Amino acid sequence: MILILDYGSQYSKLIARRIRECKVYCEILPGDAKLEEIKAHKPLALILSGGPSSVYDEDAPKCPKEIFDLDIPVLGICYGLQLMMHQLGGEVVNFSKQEYGKTELAIDDRSDLFAGITENITVWMSHGDSVVKLPEGFQKMAHSDNTPYAAVSNQARRLYGVQFHPEVVHTQQGIDVIRNFVYNISGIAPTWNMKSFVDESIEEIRSTVGKDQVLLGLSGGVDSTTVAVLLHKAIGDQLVCVFIDQGFMRKDEARKIVELFNQSFKIRLIHVDASKRFFEEVKGVIDPEEKRKKIGHEFVRTFEAEAKKLQGEIPFLAQGTLYPDVIESAMSGSGVSKNAHKIKTHHNVGGLPEKMNFKVIEPLRKLFKDEVRLMGLELGVPEAIVFRQPFPGPGIAIRVIGEVTPERVRIVQEADDIVMAEIKKAGLYRKVWQAFAVLLPIRSVGVMGDKRTYLHTIALRIVTSEDAMTANWAHIPYDVLGNISTRIINEIPEVNRVVYDITSKPPSTIEWE
Ligand code: XMP
Repeated sequence: MILILDYGSQYSKLIARRIRECKVYCEILPGDAKLEEIKAHKPLALILSGGPSSVYDEDAPKCPKEIFDLDIPVLGICYGLQLMMHQLGGEVVNFSKQEYGKTELAIDDRSDLFAGITENITVWMSHGDSVVKLPEGFQKMAHSDNTPYAAVSNQARRLYGVQFHPEVVHTQQGIDVIRNFVYNISGIAPTWNMKSFVDESIEEIRSTVGKDQVLLGLSGGVDSTTVAVLLHKAIGDQLVCVFIDQGFMRKDEARKIVELFNQSFKIRLIHVDASKRFFEEVKGVIDPEEKRKKIGHEFVRTFEAEAKKLQGEIPFLAQGTLYPDVIESAMSGSGVSKNAHKIKTHHNVGGLPEKMNFKVIEPLRKLFKDEVRLMGLELGVPEAIVFRQPFPGPGIAIRVIGEVTPERVRIVQEADDIVMAEIKKAGLYRKVWQAFAVLLPIRSVGVMGDKRTYLHTIALRIVTSEDAMTANWAHIPYDVLGNISTRIINEIPEVNRVVYDITSKPPSTIEWE
């Protein structure tokens, strides 16, 4: 594997993505990880990421100096380069000429790191400090107008550093630079693939779990379904899934999930229809945060009650935690997201066991979302689940603005069903991040068949996004919007008006509550 030491760069996860695209396994550790921990991973190469610090900051994160003597290749990127230079006796200064954004790079040495790269490329820079003096044994490989040492190396010791960011798409041939480092300099073969990862995971699960049973909370999304199928492959009937139907799923979705698990996969499934209790719980609740909290608490209560019935019998609880969450919590010591302002209380199947007496296993903890999808496909999870759009934990309840009643949930389910069908028909389902309907707590006047109506309004929310942190309202063709509107009005008698939400995130959020 390749280890990435993270110094707080917003691009560290992207470096990991790129290495895995090279079909080489990698993991991220905090930048100040101890030498023993680094060595314990037995990395074949190291990458030091960028970061917001200056090497002269009092609390600047530092790597153990000994990593440069491990006789494995090291690539420092941005702050990683500066750190390497500083630790090995070079000089880094705060330059008046900072470089941000696209910059022309002239390559002086095209032997190994830049083999096959054109002489001049556009690269992505983002730095205030610069290297002005190289440590002994290092030489220049590339420069830009403002940065004399934009890439450097000590080829004998296989130590490399670049001031620019090869991992971002704005850097021309950036992926080729990374490939040169991985394949040519580090001599690592592109052998990591999903099939081998699945096989390894199955072995690991078997040896961890032995003959014991494992409990899994199932939501119907790609993560928990993939965990279920993986575990089932590894331990068969030792897996028990609990699916709590809150009554806030999409139309027919609960039935489809139960069918899939019982019939196609033959996985032991406890289906808890708790919808009555959830509707009772949210009765009269208007405030969105209160609604989320009530649903979240009821979910935990229901899950705990089910788990209690099985406790003693079942020592393990499986969760669909993904790598970005693992990185986030591992790095939160270094300040990431520590002070983030709470916008909404998210509720998921994850985060449950704090009070419960389970040993937790997280088979997806090393994977990115798109890798989970690959795993799902590898395991035969239907495409409809693998590529399912994100769906909030509290479900449709947060798409019914105002009071949640069975009747109002049904209206959104019907409208949502039409949105899904039309978006799929137009070939847009996988092009947009999410598409859904929201029921507004107002009525307005209309006219239908010469009669005055006074009925509900549905808002359509369709957005594009990379990661849900930001989103743009989708420029859906008018005829698709028109079809959705016509069908909703014709097929749902309680609705006489459809509007399209044309705000992005920020300032809005994707969900309305
Ligand atoms: P917002 O509305 O905050 O949503 O812009 C961002 C993304 O998160 C989804 N979402 C949730 N996902 N549990 C989840 O697993 C939740 O409680 C939850 N609330 C919102 C939302 O659908 C969007 O994709």
